[in-house]
Amino acid sequence: MKVLLAGRFDPGERDRWCSALAAALPQAEWLDAAAARAVPQAVEAAVVANPPPGSLQGLPRLRLIQSLWAGVDRLLDDPTLPPGVPIARMVDPAMGAAMAETALWAVLALQRGFFSYAAQQRAGQWRVLPQRRADETPVAVLGLGEMGGAAAGAIARQGLPVVAWTRAPRDPATLPPGVRAVAGADALPALLARSAIVVNLLPLTPATRGLIDARFLAALPAGAGLVNLGRGAHVDEPALLAALDSGHLAHAVLDVFATEPLPPAHAFWTHPRVSVLPHAAALTDPHSAAAVVAANLQALRGDASPRHLVRREAGY
Ligand code: GLV
Repeated sequence: MKVLLAGRFDPGERDRWCSALAAALPQAEWLDAAAARAVPQAVEAAVVANPPPGSLQGLPRLRLIQSLWAGVDRLLDDPTLPPGVPIARMVDPAMGAAMAETALWAVLALQRGFFSYAAQQRAGQWRVLPQRRADETPVAVLGLGEMGGAAAGAIARQGLPVVAWTRAPRDPATLPPGVRAVAGADALPALLARSAIVVNLLPLTPATRGLIDARFLAALPAGAGLVNLGRGAHVDEPALLAALDSGHLAHAVLDVFATEPLPPAHAFWTHPRVSVLPHAAALTDPHSAAAVVAANLQALRGDASPRHLVRREAGY
């Protein structure tokens, strides 16, 4: 089977993926864009990491596009994406575990004031702050997919009351232990009003773009914390800066931004109430993800249908 491997990779990253994929599926031949263009009729699948727009054109026998990223918003933005070809997003338990670790770190640091202590250290200040208990720190987790579910479960296990917010109502039997859920736009303002911390793990779709705007932030109680591990475009950045400047929002932990890398002059870099991560909350691990890719490509050979297919109309 000939498979196109296309994407924007850091130096050395493509080689790491090639070795992991070759080990997981030795019978496949992994082609770069130029090699695929030489044999377009033979390419059956594409494994992609946010490839440049147009990368998947002109491959008439393509049967599966497997993303190495969990979020497929940038992939779906490509107007030249072949319309009928199934797309699978990356669902890898190792990635969910990494996301849960990041969410838990951010939530516990907000609950216990550790970002404030870090700022006090920089100022040479010895000052003990009130210690907030886990059970008096309600957390809203936006989105209950693979990432949101892993994060919500991990936070609930620490004893913080967690309410997840989803688009459509969820069967309570499918919720992670200790997690409650509410659904729909109407339920959001009341949820925000009673949340000390909001963790965003929504997919980016036309319905969620710009959700975290001035009105959203104003609905939070004074002193709340925001953890954005979804996409930068979920947030109206000027509105977020205004809420931080006024002190209404105590602190924001941001892993994703409207423009990435975050431009050097951006106010978030030096804002005392912001912690910046370089879109690193949960990286795709080549070793575990290669096994996920191999299973989906092998499904093409048999009767099984590939797993974790994207519903293009929903945007995730
Ligand atoms: C990371 O943001 C991903 O979508 O995999």
